[in-house]
Amino acid sequence: MTDAAKSPDQPLTNRQGHKVYDNQNTRTIGARGPATLENYQFLEKMSHFDRERIPERVVHARGTTAFGYFEAYGKWGDEPIANFTRAKLFQEAGKRSDLAIRFSTVAGGRDSSEVARDPRGFAVKIYTEDGNWDLVGNNLGVFFIRDALKFPDFIHSQKPDPVHFQASVPNRAMDFFSQSPESMHMVMLVFSPRGVPADYRHMQGFGVNTYKWVNAAGETVLVKYHWLPKQGVKSLTAEDAANMQAHTLGSHTKDLYDAIEAGNFPEWELQVQMMSDDEHPELDFDPLDDTKVWPEDQFPPRPVGRMVLDRNAQNFFAENEQIAFGTGVLVDGLDFSDDKMLVGRTFSYSDTQRHRVGPNYLQLPVNSPKAPVATNQRDGQMSYMVDTAPGQNPHVNYEPSITGGVQEAAKDEGYHHVFGPEISGRLTRERIPRTNDYLQAGQRFYLQQDWEREDLITNLTDALSQSDRPVQERMLWHLYMVADELGERVGDGIGITLDEVKDLGPLASQNLSEAEQAWMANLG
Ligand code: HEM
Repeated sequence: MTDAAKSPDQPLTNRQGHKVYDNQNTRTIGARGPATLENYQFLEKMSHFDRERIPERVVHARGTTAFGYFEAYGKWGDEPIANFTRAKLFQEAGKRSDLAIRFSTVAGGRDSSEVARDPRGFAVKIYTEDGNWDLVGNNLGVFFIRDALKFPDFIHSQKPDPVHFQASVPNRAMDFFSQSPESMHMVMLVFSPRGVPADYRHMQGFGVNTYKWVNAAGETVLVKYHWLPKQGVKSLTAEDAANMQAHTLGSHTKDLYDAIEAGNFPEWELQVQMMSDDEHPELDFDPLDDTKVWPEDQFPPRPVGRMVLDRNAQNFFAENEQIAFGTGVLVDGLDFSDDKMLVGRTFSYSDTQRHRVGPNYLQLPVNSPKAPVATNQRDGQMSYMVDTAPGQNPHVNYEPSITGGVQEAAKDEGYHHVFGPEISGRLTRERIPRTNDYLQAGQRFYLQQDWEREDLITNLTDALSQSDRPVQERMLWHLYMVADELGERVGDGIGITLDEVKDLGPLASQNLSEAEQAWMANLG
């Protein structure tokens, strides 16, 4: 801590190291001006200020970052974790790896309300000895869509109208949802109290997409990640949120910062669900579908470690605005699945970061791994260092070479050229066969506590009351498909009956699967 009353021994300078003798008056000819153009001190100060902002994130612009560590348990029940993954960070009980986490809202801009009804981002970066691992998830466990191609449209539907820029126009979001039945499960969560967590410490985190673990023998399993808060889960009703928002827009950031400053370090346990690496035809959903959860009785979540947050960022811009996460950032022993969202996301994150932060965003301390880096990447905007290996001939920035450049890593026992199941198929553009969009949504509706269900019905009714009639009708049809009680109660609220929407099935929901058609036949 600095002594606020005492000036530092080093006086003010510009970025060239020149002392600044007068920071109050511009250099002018005579006390009344004119100013001179060669005034380097003024130009440097003002032109840097003119560039203080970088583009905010296209989504998740409002967020806050903290730091801490991940501590491994080393075992899964009685089994060593090594049976499933060779990732080094998980192997030994008690082994700690540094980490950064950024919590966020999704749709609002950088200064928007933190109690908005919105999923929360839960992005973790673990600086392991094998390089960085990012797990970029949310607090709700599922997502609105299952194909990355739909993401830009989905986000446009959540953002303000492009003509008059009025925010919170539910018609746009409801219009999109009513044509995207795969969003129903997520709608059940976002419009429930879970859509407004009380703060960032009292919420769960989920990897959402399906990943793989790879063991030393090259065997793979499918996995899903869950972060469970030791603090418990707390949510706000719409009314609580409105009251909070009347006083502050930044309640979540303040809560987290203050807790850590007070030494009240929040903690989450990482649990992992696992299934064999195949299509699982016995399930009524696809294990690669991020609109579904894996039933916990069949795929029990098992604890593998814990995360503790014990340090706040020293500088919001350097460590929160410039931190960059991505789903492609995996370490040895962890891998991608063919989840179509995951594959699309993996392109999008580093692409946007090269634009948002700059091509050398990985040189920044908060993004740079704590493992050694030796690449032949050179130059680009804001490059300030060269990644060379100790002893590397600095003239050789290419590979292969016999003149002292870096070499490929040895293919040790951890390396497997071929692993995972064999995949074949024709090029196509098709939905996955087992969409089953309503079953888990309905289960989620009935699983909620009474007050949560009441809040969900109120919030959906409220949003639909502000929507156009054709959107209301189509959305109501889906709500009936989710649960009769939900359709009836929201229908009562917006004054539309089942008879009025019963025939809308094919209009509201393209390409119904056979199971869904059978379900629809039972409607009413
Ligand atoms: C941030 C794209 C789906 C969680 C972002 C950003 C982009 C993006 C471009 C801004 C990154 C930056 O500027 O650094 C996409 C695409 C998706 C997708 C194309 C689907 C195809 C998801 C899903 C989740 C998620 C399913 C949750 C499981 C996050 C989080 C952040 C984020 C937590 C904020 C990271 C941070 O705090 O810096 N996403 N996203 N996204 N996304 Fe996604």
